[in-house]
Amino acid sequence: MAKTLDELFDYLDRLEQRVALPELVGELSDLAIDCDGLRQHVQFSDRSYARNLVRKGPWYHLLVLCWKNGQRSPIHDHAGSSCGVRVLRGVMTETRFEVAPNGHVKAVGSRDLAEGGVCGSQDDDLHQVSNLQAGNAELVTLHVYSPPLMWMGTYSILDTSRGQEPMLLEFCDAAGI
Ligand SMILES: [Fe+2]
Repeated sequence: MAKTLDELFDYLDRLEQRVALPELVGELSDLAIDCDGLRQHVQFSDRSYARNLVRKGPWYHLLVLCWKNGQRSPIHDHAGSSCGVRVLRGVMTETRFEVAPNGHVKAVGSRDLAEGGVCGSQDDDLHQVSNLQAGNAELVTLHVYSPPLMWMGTYSILDTSRGQEPMLLEFCDAAGI
């Protein structure tokens, strides 16, 4: 049976360890929610995609990410964390990468996830999330990181350099903070 947002909160608050990625993807797939229930967390930024913390606990962060048209994440990993994503509004483009023999990263495929679609990444999985929709459309996505991902490794398409980006939170007027 489809679960409510409150039931997701309860599930996350009961966690006592990292969630296995297939279980997390299942939880997000079972949700009966849309943007309306998370309206107060839907806030965009002109500077880059915006991370809005909804709720947090020792073993998770729950965020709403808001993407204006054309905004993209860096190519990044998920070191030590399970990350599940559900599309709340719009179509999300996910491009997956792997490390080539010379140390560069290469794209191995892209897919578009429609509203309600769910995907998962963990540990050294590399990907980039983008809003590439027609008509200047916005994208809103729901993310669970377990345990919380405080830093993500970032990668360049142009060379072998590696970086680290803190998971800065744009608008932290969240419950449970
Ligand atoms: Fe990611």
